[in-house]
Amino acid sequence: MNLVATFWENTAQTPLQIVEDPFLVDRGIRLYIKRDDLIHAEVSGNKWRKLKYNLIEAERLGFKTLFTFGGAYSNHIAAVAVAGKEMGFQTIGVIRGEELSADANPTLRFAAASGMELIFVSREAYRDKSGLAAMYGNGCYVLPEGGSNHLAVLGMSEVMLEIKQQLNAPIHYMCTAFGTGATAAGLATDADTKVLVFPSLKLSSEVVKNMIGSYLSTNVSNLEIMSDYHFGGYGRTNDLLLDFVKSFENQTGIPLEEVYTGKMMFGIYDLVKKGFFRRGDTLVGLHTGGLQGKRK
Ligand SMILES: Cc1ncc(COP(=O)(O)O)c(C=O)c1O
Repeated sequence: MNLVATFWENTAQTPLQIVEDPFLVDRGIRLYIKRDDLIHAEVSGNKWRKLKYNLIEAERLGFKTLFTFGGAYSNHIAAVAVAGKEMGFQTIGVIRGEELSADANPTLRFAAASGMELIFVSREAYRDKSGLAAMYGNGCYVLPEGGSNHLAVLGMSEVMLEIKQQLNAPIHYMCTAFGTGATAAGLATDADTKVLVFPSLKLSSEVVKNMIGSYLSTNVSNLEIMSDYHFGGYGRTNDLLLDFVKSFENQTGIPLEEVYTGKMMFGIYDLVKKGFFRRGDTLVGLHTGGLQGKRK
């Protein structure tokens, strides 16, 4: 049995769920959420989409081991560990922070328990990805940080095809969180759809656009960057954000996390409040997963 093909083929289309909230109804906004967090129990959200064509390629080329990089709480590290385990690849993860250990937090414990070999390096050494790949990843299929490359973009582009099959109406705005830009790049390949990008890092719109553009072979003009919702930078939060996430979850029953999807959803609601959208607009927010980060 081909474990790699079976893994991808056995995944059902994720729901496109309307967000039931009187706040939105009163303002004439239809907001859907593409529930990619439900795509797989552990290889969730954009991680599933980004890994799909990479792992098909790794198998096609005959690789037995996946090699990648990530921070201590990386959703990508957790996803690669499980995907590798389920599809019969060995996995090696280089983790930023020489002071850490496999027992340092739930993400790393989970990755190690899923069979990933963890290598801890200093922040300085971590910057040299190609050096690390040469030193520790010889003969492995190398996945970049966050799983972001052109095959990831191809996987992400399939989200738009699915949504268009599910929603028989124009989409005025497709919304996504941003870290490296591969997710937004995949969505932006659908030239008919305007993509609103919510960076979870403190970066200028110019830099964000360039990062997204670096994954695309043609220039796109359907991106709009909403750079006011980073809450101070990557991983930063405050009570306003945490309270919003809690009240959104209570109102809708849809779980978010505060690093990516919480910031995106806060931004969408804030823009609704400020009248950025028009009555009658249809928005879709992509649930990119990341809920493993809430594991205790
Ligand atoms: C849950 C979640 N959402 C969104 C993103 C951002 O995706 P990208 O790095 O492709 O911009 C990430 C990071 O990869 C993530 O883990």
